[in-house]
Amino acid sequence: MSTTIPDTGSNTTKESAATKPNKGGLEGIVAAATALSKVEGTVGRLIYHGYNIHAICRTTSFEEVAHLLWFGHLPNVQELSDLKAHLAEARTLPPQVAQLLRLLPATTEPMDALRTAVSAWGALTIEGKATIEQAIAVTARFPVFLAAFHRFRTGQEPLEARPELGYAANYLYLLTGQEPKTEHVRALDAYLVLLADHGMNASTFTARVVASTESDIVSAVVAALGALKGPLHGGAPSKVLDMLNAIGTVENTEPWLRNALAHGDRLMGFGHRVYKTEDPRAEELRAMARIADPTGFVLARHVEERAIALLEAEKPGRRLYTNVEFYSAVLLASVGLPGDLFTPTFAASRVVGWTAHILEQTKNNRLIRPEADYTGPMDLPFVPLNER
Ligand SMILES: CC(C)(COP(=O)(O)OP(=O)(O)OC[C@H]1O[C@@H](n2cnc3c(N)ncnc32)[C@H](O)[C@@H]1OP(=O)(O)O)[C@@H](O)C(=O)NCCC(=O)NCCS
Repeated sequence: MSTTIPDTGSNTTKESAATKPNKGGLEGIVAAATALSKVEGTVGRLIYHGYNIHAICRTTSFEEVAHLLWFGHLPNVQELSDLKAHLAEARTLPPQVAQLLRLLPATTEPMDALRTAVSAWGALTIEGKATIEQAIAVTARFPVFLAAFHRFRTGQEPLEARPELGYAANYLYLLTGQEPKTEHVRALDAYLVLLADHGMNASTFTARVVASTESDIVSAVVAALGALKGPLHGGAPSKVLDMLNAIGTVENTEPWLRNALAHGDRLMGFGHRVYKTEDPRAEELRAMARIADPTGFVLARHVEERAIALLEAEKPGRRLYTNVEFYSAVLLASVGLPGDLFTPTFAASRVVGWTAHILEQTKNNRLIRPEADYTGPMDLPFVPLNER
């Protein structure tokens, strides 16, 4: 990794790297060149291949964004219909994967079940260099595997996917067996659009590292799933829901947050490595959450305002604001998803970004192999085992 890869636009992370001491975590390091998305942390802007996220998130379907990221342009009517048909055809649950999911204990974390299912499916299916067809095939399976596991763990049988439904609607149908409500489909679709890609986040970087070794697409996706699971990345939204439930009332907000901060806890849904102002996705999700759950929104908004004020007081100058996870939790709960499906639902969106990055990495590949500062001892005299 170097800071010498040419960049065509202003890069706030590079600027900050030049002026700040290295705090680890590869902060400010440019690890790849990408045409997929651009995250501008100081102004709070997110661009998907030329389009500001605010311009597309409530008018563009998830499939359109997938087309943009995989093929490099927004689809026309025919291209969109072709992509939807390919995704719909690929919504199958192989019996071996179904059997595996059935055998997992009901207490298995859905992220672990998804990772296991995707890995098993890859072992049965995937060969050779990463292709767009493989990207579509693996993406289409995410909601199928997740819903199948959810139904097994709740004592139900998986349902057949419905080809006439879009990605978001089919996912809701597969989970519940009910006709999905239009407002739920719209909210979930907009959520999926907002989460599809996000620069060199930890899971995307992981996917690119694995792809750079010329490993297969499923291995890269499985590794990315592992990275996304952690609470510092995609594992936060169910913890946001836990926090909101634990706070419970507007009156309890301030003492609860103060107590958490006094114990050194991190407030889930706040702070970001790159955004030093509000995450633009949080702005969109807040507006959607206000409509989707007006009652829950009142508490969430109060918690948000108090959390930002207390973080500024307790951690002056750190610029900790609402990130994508805070209102994701409110929105996904309003759609009826259980908390432990929040992170795998995030994955069902981000898999598009991962696979687009894997294809981009594969196109112009060089092994990603950084160095480490060695901090261990040197020149120790060797003592044989029987003399130690
Ligand atoms: C997202 C996150 C991992 C970014 O971390 P980072 O860039 O490595 O930031 P750092 O860990 O260097 O934190 C900088 C300072 O802010 C504090 N901080 C960062 N996020 C915080 C939070 N959510 N609550 C309380 N303090 C926080 C850190 O404790 C640290 O304080 P210090 O300088 O006194 O040690 C971090 O903000 C976080 O843990 N947020 C909560 C989890 C979350 O919402 N994850 C989803 C991310 S989209």
